[in-house]
Parts: sequence; structure tokens; C-alpha cells
Amino acid sequence: MPSRARQPARAKSSGAPGPAAPERAPAAPAAGPTPAAPADFEKLGVFYLGRPYDLGTKQRGAGLLLYDSKDLVTHAVCIGMTGSGKTGLCLALIEEALLDGIPVLLIDPKGDLPNLCLTFPELRPEDFAPWVNEEDARRKGLTVDAYAAQQAELWRKGLAAWGEDGARIRRLRDAADVAVYTPGSTAGLPVSIVKSFAAPPTAVRDDAELFRERIGTTATSLLGLLGIEADPLRSREHILLAKLFETAWREGRDLDLPGLIQQIQSPPIAKVGALDLEAFFPGKDRFELATRLNNLLAAPGFDAWLEGEPLDVGALLHTAEGKPRAAIFSIAHLSDAERMFFVSLLLNETLGWVRAQSGTTSLRALLYMDEIFGFFPPVANPPSKLPLLTLLKQARAFGVGVVLATQNPVDLDYKGLANTGTWFIGRLQTDRDRARVLDGLEGAAAGGDRRFDRATMEKTLGGLGSRIFLLNNVHENGPEVFESRWAMSYLRGPLTRTQIKQLMAGRKPAPAPARPAEAPAAGAAPAASRDPVPAAAAASPRTRGGVRPVLPPGVPQNFLPVRGTAPAGAVLVYQPRVLGAVTVRFADAKAGVDQSEEVVVVTPITEAAVPVTWEGATPIGVAVADLEANPAATGDWAPLPSAAAKPKSYEGWSRDLAAWLYGQQRLDLLRDPASGVLSRPGESERDFRVRIREGARAERDERVEALRKKYAPKRAALEERLRRAQQAEGREREQVSQQGVQAAISIGATILGAVLGRKTISVTNIGRATTAARGAGRVLKEREDVTRAQETVAAVQQALAALEAELQGELATLEARGEPDRLEPVAVRPKKTDVRVRLCALAWTPYWRNRAGTLTPAWT
Ligand SMILES: Nc1ncnc2c1ncn2[C@@H]1O[C@H](COP(=O)(O)OP(=O)(O)OP(=O)(O)O)[C@@H](O)[C@H]1O
Ligand SMILES: [Mg+2]
Repeated sequence: MPSRARQPARAKSSGAPGPAAPERAPAAPAAGPTPAAPADFEKLGVFYLGRPYDLGTKQRGAGLLLYDSKDLVTHAVCIGMTGSGKTGLCLALIEEALLDGIPVLLIDPKGDLPNLCLTFPELRPEDFAPWVNEEDARRKGLTVDAYAAQQAELWRKGLAAWGEDGARIRRLRDAADVAVYTPGSTAGLPVSIVKSFAAPPTAVRDDAELFRERIGTTATSLLGLLGIEADPLRSREHILLAKLFETAWREGRDLDLPGLIQQIQSPPIAKVGALDLEAFFPGKDRFELATRLNNLLAAPGFDAWLEGEPLDVGALLHTAEGKPRAAIFSIAHLSDAERMFFVSLLLNETLGWVRAQSGTTSLRALLYMDEIFGFFPPVANPPSKLPLLTLLKQARAFGVGVVLATQNPVDLDYKGLANTGTWFIGRLQTDRDRARVLDGLEGAAAGGDRRFDRATMEKTLGGLGSRIFLLNNVHENGPEVFESRWAMSYLRGPLTRTQIKQLMAGRKPAPAPARPAEAPAAGAAPAASRDPVPAAAAASPRTRGGVRPVLPPGVPQNFLPVRGTAPAGAVLVYQPRVLGAVTVRFADAKAGVDQSEEVVVVTPITEAAVPVTWEGATPIGVAVADLEANPAATGDWAPLPSAAAKPKSYEGWSRDLAAWLYGQQRLDLLRDPASGVLSRPGESERDFRVRIREGARAERDERVEALRKKYAPKRAALEERLRRAQQAEGREREQVSQQGVQAAISIGATILGAVLGRKTISVTNIGRATTAARGAGRVLKEREDVTRAQETVAAVQQALAALEAELQGELATLEARGEPDRLEPVAVRPKKTDVRVRLCALAWTPYWRNRAGTLTPAWT
């Protein structure tokens, strides 16, 4: 193989492979042994990133560089000069994650990442044509179509040389959704920041430090957007905003920009520390701050920030059907302040989401940032830094891996580096950069038991070329040099906004999937409307000007709370209803269900022969504990039907209610037949699918880990025997034909290597050690002078092949568990005795009545 010329530094505007790129074509399938088909390890939680590379001979090795996905929970950094292949490597890594059903958030300051959408299973020229860089075509004197044909061929050959094909691309496409979000712009999918000032989840609020950080970074990033660079300790703008966020969030209240503007003018606080608010930050000056924020809100184009899907990480990571998603946030079009603002918000949201997850040791999701420059500096403290640092420290326990790429090691905070388990180091530009990376590596090695050989490492770093990386993973035995595999996505370089628009054109911004809180409560009575006012009652002239009826003792009565403020010109009017609060227990030992639901409904009372029927009852969304003993305010009173004034009526209505609910109530759940896991009440099918998928992945990882424990000693023992046999074989070993080595490698690089990784023995060694029985036979036949020593080698090799076969058999059962595509509905009905009426009482329900006489509920 000709030694590979280094790829020229890529022109920024033209990301498509330049003239030097076809050099990869000669590395065609015939040139080397075929690696294990990716399908062999596809479902084992290992990522195929490339092949080992020998810096001495400048040759691609035969083994596979497989990375254990679980290792990513301790995060990764990818460092290398421009054009060194960082983005290509990281996109390959993300492709692997998506193939394994792991969703990814991608922050894209440069514009390269939407290339992840350019996946063409057929690899046809016409698939490439709309996306090739026309400028490149022109420079080469080719028509766009001719150039597209060239690119398609380049990609087909490139992939083939790495054992990949269109079928794998199709699997990638089927495995995950790819969406390009463009905050502040409608070119891609819009994403709304409206909810970003909402109270963070309880997991964040309950952690004092996390809560403080969240408040601080939100205030700093918002002020940054206004062009105010604020010192959190001294700036009164910062102190006030932080106080407002804290006051609202502590009570679980959401804020939004208009609300914030209003609160800046009339804050709900009188003092800041020991000072009077007016002395600390006079109203006149606060008005100025409010005006600046208002100008931002009113600025043309700001609307785009408020449209689209809310920045809800849990919702963004999976589609409405529960399919994992690569959510790319393209921020190349934003100003520096806007980028910082958005990235900080997104990181905060991510942190909030992470903290609300259950713990796991498996990889659950990835966060990738393509260029960290400016967001994670060692000295300064931009608002993005703290949440990122906290993510690096804490996300691991929740299975969320962070991958950061940068051209220069100096862009990374050293505390962040210390929390990073994997380093992908590419070609570096200067001796200084190399020295810095070496310092970092040395520091990282200091804690562990690996010896750090600075001189060797320095030589290695100096020898790296484009797409050649040094992998330093604290979970492995030692560093390894490899060449990144060909990316399945067409790496055409930055896409224009028009192209992003084109890419996302077919997709309407998906409506936010129903969160459990919004999903209708399981077992809730079916209701046509949330407003239980019968039209007749609303129009009844008798509701006007009534007084509160006096009731005999023994009639239980309650008041629904009044929430919110009166619409202009509306008055409060109380309507009498019967309220029923019932506990329904759903227990079914066979289905493994035992849970209780609270149902609170109201129904009108009339003067008819049967004054109360529960058939039309509506759930009110108010808990019994929230009912009040007294009316909230002065209001009008609708007349009370006579039946409602008799204590005895309520006993009968209570019995009717129990009977009606018994017939009504049903808990509809879903079961995953593969695992037997049942959905939770209120859990949407989407969320259930996500949970099943995560559970299956964690279980798979555990089983792979168990296999590792079982096979590693066996392989180590065989390898030791092989080493002795080879020693005995002595010099003759040197004469083993090239073919012999290759036959050995073709099997060594498969499953044993994939499962055991380099944690016990290097892939290269095992590659040399193992051989397919068939290949070994052929090698033996080729040579006449078979010595006893060689027979021993062959015998050990056969034993390894047998071990491989045994492992294959075990893996077959492991792979049987697939996607949770077939969910079974499970309906559980309550027993009669399990429907318990806790309360059946008169409930005064408050409504706002406007001048036209229309009533709207006042308790929601
Ligand atoms: N895995 C890969 N498969 C195919 N081509 C690749 C791969 N990695 C890199 N390349 C080629 O090399 C070019 C440069 O690589 P890449 O964009 O990854 O560099 P980079 O290190 O991210 O540079 P920058 O710092 O400027 O973003 C790509 O445009 C692509 O043509
Ligand atoms: Mg890049």
C-alpha cells in the first residue's frame, strides 16, 4: 500500500473531500483481510470506530478498533487540528450509538453535523447530487451530476474498504430519526425557549448547589443576550434576576420573558439581603432593565425563538413513537451572545433532565459538541461552563456521556479533562499543542496504575496523520493508534441554511408528545368536556344575584378553590354540584398489577325526578386535599335544587357513584412480551417504549459483561499456551507466509475480540493468535514440513476457534431480544369491593361570568 499522503487542510467553505480524498479508494477491499462483518458485533454494545494503525509501517492493521459503549459514560474528548478528522470520527461514533438505539443531542457551532442526515442506502449518484458542493464540481471542471457520481463511487468504495455497505446505512436510517433544529431561525425545525425559564424539575430544586448553579447560569446567559456582562456577585442586574428566578422557582412557579419583565418592574420581594429593594436597585433603573428585555422581546425576528418544540430534552431525545433521535442544534447562524445564551439553556435543560433519570451503568444518551472553543475555557467563566462541568461530574451515574471536540487542547478546562475517561487525539499542529496534550495525558495517568512513557507518547503524537488517532481510554490496558472508519454519512461539509431548510422541509415541527402529566389519567371517567356547566344552567336567569343558601347540618359541603385572576369585567358565581371522590384499586396478581387511582368528579344537580346522574360526570383535576371549607371571595350563588339540601340524598348518590364507576373504570396498560415489563399508569406508549429499550440495553450490557468474565480467563489461558507453542516453533514461525497470518486474523477479529475488547488482551494479539479451523487447515496443507511444535500451534488455534464458536452460541440467545415493537394491551378492571367512595358531598364550583352571561371555570 502506498504511504498515504496527508490530506491538505480543508478549506472551510468546502467540506467535501478534496482532490486528495480518492486516495482512500486504493485501500480497496482486496488490499487487506476483511474485518469481521459489523453485523457480528452490532448488538453487543461495542462501537466500530476503525482499525488499528501501525505508525511504523504506515499500514492499517487487520483487527477492528471496537469501543465499549459503556466506557462513554465517563465521557470523551477529541482533540486535533483542523482537517485531522475529528468530526468524521465523532460522527462515526454517533452513527454507532444510533445503531444501538442511543439518542444523541448534538450542538453544532460550525455547520458540519447536519451531514448526519445525508445517508443513502442505495448510494446512487442522484442521491448525492442535491448535496454535493457545487463549487468543488466547478473547480474540477465537472458537471454537478458527474461530480455526484464520483462522490457516490468514493463513498461506496470507502465504505466497502471498511466492511460497510448500503445495508448498514439502511439499518442506521431505520434505527433513528435525525432532526436539525435551528434556534432563533425557521430554516430548520424551530425550537422554543419559552419554557426555559420554567421552574426546573424537583431533582434540581432539591439539590441546593445545582439549584444555585441553575439560577446563576440562567441569569448570566440572559444578561449576556442583553449585552450585559455581569459579575454574579456584584452586578445588581444579576442579583435581582437571580432573586426573581429563585423566588418563583422555589415555589415551583414558572417564569417567562413577559412575566420576568413585569417582575423586574414590580418585584415580589421587598428586600435584597439587608437592603431595601428601592435603595438597592431603584425603580427607575429597574425600568431601564425591563425596557432592554422588552426591546429584545419586541425585536424583529425574536419570534423565531418562541416558536416550535419546547426545549424539553426528554421529549427531544425520542420521537413521538419512542424512536431514538439525533437532535442536531445548529447554531452557526447565531451571534456569539445568542450562541452562549442558547448553549447555556440547552446544557441547563440537559442537566435537569439527567438528574431526573434513574441511575444506570449503561449508556443511555450522548451529548456531543463539535467545537468547544469559547464554551469551556480554562480561565474565564462563561455561563456554559458550570453546567458542562457539572454534567461531566454527574452525568456518568445516569448513563449520559458527553463528547467534546476541539482543535486545541488549550480550549478545555483542565478540571473538565480530569473528568474525562477517553481521549481521541488526532494530528496536532504545533509542538506546544503536543506538549499540552502530553501534560494532560501524564496528569490523567498519574492516578492510575499504567506507566506513562512520555518519550514514546511524544513520538506517537508526532506521527499521527489525518484520520489517525491515538485512543487513550482509562478503561483499557493501554493506548492504541487507529484509523477512523469511513463515515456512513456523506461528509460534504457545512450545509447552507437553504439546504437545511430543504432537509427538514418534509417535517412539520412535531407537536410535543403528551407528557404523563397531560395524559388523561388512567381510569378517569370519559368526558366530552372539561367544563361541567350544562348550557341551560349557564343561561339561566335565576343565577343572577342569588345569596348563599343556608343548609341544614348534615349536608356536607365544600368549595373548589379559585385559581388565577378574573377576566376583565367578569364576576364570580358559585354553582352547586355533587362531588364524588373515589379510590379505585386495580389489582390483578396474574398481570402483576396492584395500584390505586384517585378519581374526583362532579356532576350537576337538577330539579328533575332523578336529580343526579353520574353518567355525565366530569373529572375536575382538583384533589380532595385542595377543597376548601369556605368560599374564596364574594360572588353570586346559583339556586340550590331541593334534593341537594337533604342529607339523605347524598347516601343514595354515593351508592350510585360506586356502581357507575365500577362499570366505568378500567386501567389500560401495555406489556412488553419479551421482558414481561408492564407500563405504569399514565405512562405514554412512547415513554414506555423508551423505558423498555433502556432496560433491554442495560440487561444486554450486563450479559455481555458476564460473558467477558466467563471467556476472558479461557482466552488468556489459550493465548498463553499459544505463546509457548510459538516459542517452541522458534525460527520457523518467521517463515509463516503472509497468508497464514491473514487467515489467523480473519477470525480473531470477530466475536472474541468484539466481546473481550482490549481489556484483557489486545485485539492485535488475539488476531494473530486465532484462526478459523478452515484457514488453519489450508495453511497446514500448504506446508510440507509440519513440525510437532506447529501442530501444537494449530491445536491451540483450533481450541480458540472452538471457544469462538461456543461464544457465538451464547451470543445468539443474547441477540434474540429485539425491539419492543409488539406491545400487548393489558386491561385491568377493579373488583366491586375495590371501588371506595371517600367523599360524596355538595361542592360549590366557582365560575367566571362575563357580561354576556358565559361561564368559564375559575378553578383551573
Ligand atoms: N471518517 C471519515 N470518513 C470519510 N471521510 C472522512 C472521515 N473523517 C474525515 N474525513 C474527510 O476528511 C475531511 C476533514 O475531516 P473533518 O471534517 O472530520 O476534520 P476536523 O478535524 O473536524 O476539522 P475542523 O477542526 O476543521 O472541523 C472531511 O471533510 C472528510 O472529507
Ligand atoms: Mg470538525
